[in-house]
Order: sequence, then structure tokens, then C-alpha cells
Amino acid sequence: MQKLLMLFIGHQLMFTAHLLASAGMDQTICIWNVWSRDQKKARVFSFHNAAVKDVKWSQQGLFVLSCGYDCSSRLIDVEKGIETQTFKDNQVVGVIKFHPDNSNLFLSGGSKGGLRLWDVRTGQVVHEYIRGLGPILDVEFTIDGKQFVSSSDVSGGNVSENSIIVWDISRQVPLSNQVYAEAYTCPCVRYHPFDPYFVAQSNGNYIAIFSSSPPFKLDKYKRYESHRVSGFPVKCNFSLDGEKLVSGSSDGSIYFYNSQSSVLVKKMKAYEQACIDVAFHPILSNVIASCSWNGDVSVFE
Ligand SMILES: *[C@@H]1O[C@H](CO)[C@@H](O)[C@H](O)[C@H]1NC(C)=O
Ligand SMILES: *[C@@H]1O[C@H](CO)[C@@H](O)[C@H](O)[C@H]1NC(C)=O
Repeated sequence: MQKLLMLFIGHQLMFTAHLLASAGMDQTICIWNVWSRDQKKARVFSFHNAAVKDVKWSQQGLFVLSCGYDCSSRLIDVEKGIETQTFKDNQVVGVIKFHPDNSNLFLSGGSKGGLRLWDVRTGQVVHEYIRGLGPILDVEFTIDGKQFVSSSDVSGGNVSENSIIVWDISRQVPLSNQVYAEAYTCPCVRYHPFDPYFVAQSNGNYIAIFSSSPPFKLDKYKRYESHRVSGFPVKCNFSLDGEKLVSGSSDGSIYFYNSQSSVLVKKMKAYEQACIDVAFHPILSNVIASCSWNGDVSVFE
């Protein structure tokens, strides 16, 4: 693979067709024009008053949603360069995700364990998911958008009960208990794009596989394990065709697994520091972006 560019700043990444968005500890959101020869950094937005933890592209026009330590989520019109909405929370907002079928809805998870579904049209919370959880580390909708999975930090509490929970969105109730009984936190959960399973990046230094139907059983015979997590918020994700699973690693490499067999197919050294996020380009399947713990953003072809 060839490195196309090396940029600075950014912890979370997401592509649209030609633009890459990154969220940074320096309180900014950067929009990168990956394909432009000189002007790579297309826009910088400084609407947050504290570090930004997550950024997601909306499926509706050129908008990004971001969230962070200033206890808010913000919707930004990238073309006009303005913030169009603020969603105030009572906690640091660590993760946000748009509903797959209705881009007016998004889910947020925060430092006090709060999980909320917001409606952009009204600016209000439509559903809340309560269970006395620790800080939310990640959320992910099912493909049909009727359920979601949350992962929370269990280091302070009831380990085996609450780390990974599957929720019914409209009934606001958990559909699962004790899906993951190991004493590790999971900084990332992802559904396979069409096969009936989801994965969780575990601090036990492997990616665990779970059935996507009740009782959401852990696959005891298969896991993805060559990379290292070691306490870093290391993310992973499937390729668009579902054939590959790519993961960051605390050793600074990017790991590519065969999704089905769980065999490691490729390992690529990217950084001296931990590699914490990776994103596949939505159209060009041979392009990926990654970022390191100290904020280097890179794009590889
Ligand atoms: C953990 O949860 C179980 C079952 O809900 C409960 O019996 C136990 O007291 C809890 N432990 C702690 C430390 O909260
Ligand atoms: C994960 O990958 C899928 C398909 O490759 C993509 O649609 C999705 O946006 C990615 N998730 C995140 C959080 O980047």
C-alpha cells in the first residue's frame, strides 16, 4: 500500500465520497480533501469549546455531526461553514451515530452512561435508554435500524452484567443480558454489513464475535486475534463488501482479517504510536484512512 498523505490532528475519522472528516483533541473538526494535490485541508471548524470526541457525516447533504467534552453535539453545514444546531447534554458526549434509515435521528452516548435518541427536526430527545451504565464507549445500530448495541466501560462496576447490551429502540428496553461475560471493556462494536453477527473490540486483545439474534451468543470458537488493544480506544470496521475486517492496534500497525475465517491476511506498519481508528473509503475499496494516538491522520491506497 502507498501512503497518499500524512496530516496532523484527529482521533476519529469518517469518509464521504471525496472528503474525510476528522475530530481532534485540539477542539476542531477538520474536513480533508484527500484527492486535491495542494489544498488538502478543506475546512476547519472550531465550534466546540473543548476536545471533540466523534464526528459523523449525515446521509442528508453535506453535514457533519460532532460531539465532545463540551457536553454537546453539533450539526454543521460543511458547505456554508456554519453550525446549524446544538444539542445540549448533561454529560461529555463520547459517541454519536445517525440512524441508518432516518437521518433525522441520531443516537448519543456519554460519560454518565446516558444513551439518547435525538430528533434533529425538533432538537429534542425522543427516547432514552436507562440502565445505570458506566461511560458509553460505542454504539452501533443494527442493519434494519430497529435495535442498537451499546458498549460501556465496566471497570467501575458490574462487569459481567452490563458491558455489551442490545436495545430495542422504540420500546427503550434491553433485549439482552450478559452478552459478554469477560472482564474487559470493549471500545468498539460493529455489525457485519449483511451477515447475522456483530463484533466487539475487546481489551482482552481480540475482537469477539456475537450472533445478531437473541440471545446474542458469543462465538466461543472464533475470534480475530493478532493485534493489540492494551487500553487504547482502538476501533475496527468491516469493508463495504463485508469480506474484510480492519483494525487498529496499540503496536501502530493496521491489521486486515478475513471476516469469515478470522485469519489475518495482512499487517501494515503505520505509526510508532498506537493506531486507534481506521476507515474504509465508501466507494474506492482500496483506500483507507487511519489515525494514531497522537493525532496523525493518514490515507493509504
Ligand atoms: C451485579 O449485578 C447482579 C445482578 O443484577 C447483582 O446481584 C450484583 O449485586 C451486582 N454487583 C454489583 C457490584 O453491583
Ligand atoms: C463501517 O463501515 C461501514 C461499511 O464499510 C460504513 O458504512 C460505516 O459508516 C462504518 N462505520 C463507521 C463508524 O465508520
